[in-house]
Amino acid sequence: MNIKTEIANVLETYLDLTKETMEQLLEKPKFAHLGDLAFPCFTLAKSMRKAPQLIAAEISEKIESPLIDHAEVVGGYVNIFLNQQLVSSKVIGEILEQKEHYGDLPQNKGVMAIDLSSPNIAKPFSMGHLRSTVIGNALGLIAEKNGYTAIRINHLGDWGTQFGKLIVAYKRWGKEEEVRENPIKELLKLYVLFHEKAEEDPTLNEEGRKWFNYLEQGNEEATILWKWFRKESLKEFNKIYKLLGITFDSNDGEAYFNDKMEAVVDLLKEKQLLVESEGAQVVELEDYPPCLIKKSDGATLYATRDLAAAIHRQENYHFVKSLYVVGNEQTLHFKQLFQVLEKMGYDWAKGMAHIPFGMMLKDGKKMSTRKGKVVLLEEVLQAAIELAEKNIEEKNPSLEKKEEVAKQVGTGAIIFHELKHYRLTDIEFSLEDMLKFEGETGPYIQYTHARACSLLRKGQFSHPASITDLQWNDISFPIVKILMDFPTSVEKAIENYDPSEIAKYVIDLAKAFNKYYAHVQILEENDEKQARLSLVYAVTLVLKEGLRLLGISAPEAM
Ligand code: ARG
Repeated sequence: MNIKTEIANVLETYLDLTKETMEQLLEKPKFAHLGDLAFPCFTLAKSMRKAPQLIAAEISEKIESPLIDHAEVVGGYVNIFLNQQLVSSKVIGEILEQKEHYGDLPQNKGVMAIDLSSPNIAKPFSMGHLRSTVIGNALGLIAEKNGYTAIRINHLGDWGTQFGKLIVAYKRWGKEEEVRENPIKELLKLYVLFHEKAEEDPTLNEEGRKWFNYLEQGNEEATILWKWFRKESLKEFNKIYKLLGITFDSNDGEAYFNDKMEAVVDLLKEKQLLVESEGAQVVELEDYPPCLIKKSDGATLYATRDLAAAIHRQENYHFVKSLYVVGNEQTLHFKQLFQVLEKMGYDWAKGMAHIPFGMMLKDGKKMSTRKGKVVLLEEVLQAAIELAEKNIEEKNPSLEKKEEVAKQVGTGAIIFHELKHYRLTDIEFSLEDMLKFEGETGPYIQYTHARACSLLRKGQFSHPASITDLQWNDISFPIVKILMDFPTSVEKAIENYDPSEIAKYVIDLAKAFNKYYAHVQILEENDEKQARLSLVYAVTLVLKEGLRLLGISAPEAM
């Protein structure tokens, strides 16, 4: 039940406004004592030629519905107090009936392609890529709940001049056994070394470009080394994906498009969009600097590969939306990409969007792979899991499936930490913060869920035969109101491409529940016990579903 829709239906009898307008106008009063919903009459004053207070007074006198207990006038507002008994049984009834499907929207909205994670081969999986991975994965889950088919694409950074550089560095300074033993760390060392040496000796850059050219042309030595770097890197990335419980529909990265470059270049020529500029081939744009398609040495670029990839995605998936979850430092790149596609005459380019996010800072500065200033994600995840194990040993040593729960809690802490901030906020990297299990954290929500599950076990909860006959108490109404908002939150999260909407939602719900838990004897044997346990059950369902949408598991005990 969408309460705003219901109330708009009621108001329709009295006012000459569309239901949509009324729904938009209905707001939540700042304080609960002012009512559950407020309807402002200011915009009506002009057309009705009456003072807003007068309109509000008229409405509040006439308004009538089983859902409404009473209405009061404050200033130009009609403050509506809901019928708690009826609304509670409706909302809880709906959740108990629909379970994890509560808040689902009709399916068949079409494909939403999501470009996420997309780390660069031969470099450690960075915190920035973690952000893309968890935001992208959550958006996929939220999109599915909203009725889209999500396609998750890991557009691996496995092509580009940096591989020329790496090959040069490996040939000069690399040792096979060392790389075999510790691929990412050693390759990173070589990469960092290359940049140090290139500062003294710029000819190294030239050599790197030359080796990338060889690679593009299929040179055997270059290809063997590249394949090896790629394979070793993927092994390491897969460990992280496994820990995070994330899978992809496609791992076709930049290299996949190497042999599809000519076709794109030809297409651009055909459409007369390609012009020469200082020996390079570019597409000129109205609103942005020209988009570089081919360098003077013939090498294609990141943008060229993204053009090919975008067209490929449309041909393959017929997406209605195509998202790129990539840091905000690439904003210009995506603006250029989308404008080139529009100039090519592709109408579907309107469905594309860059979903930027802020940086992970260390001591207020951007973390950079080149200077070797990175934090290894796998180590962070392992630290979180170990800490969770330690907590379990201390607090609940007889817990079943300890290892699995520790993994769920440790990764839950990291994922939630990423998602609770609005995505464009820069976050300062702090291991301590990421490993916090108290306050507004993943483990806090998981713990609240587990505590609620334990109440259901202790109270031997069984589904009530009739929800409407249950006795609801006004202490539980704040929780009912939050539960009622879940579907709206799910919708808002996809409208704004913002998983923090759901993270904040579960924080609110968990807080309200813990407050209730502290004040009410939930398991006390009396007439209202069934109602209380039904409420607790509804809370477990929605917390679990909210966490699931973020990519976090909800263990039943911890
Ligand atoms: N590999 C790139 C990077 O780490 C991100 C790729 C994002 N996806 C894309 N289609 N451009 O910066």
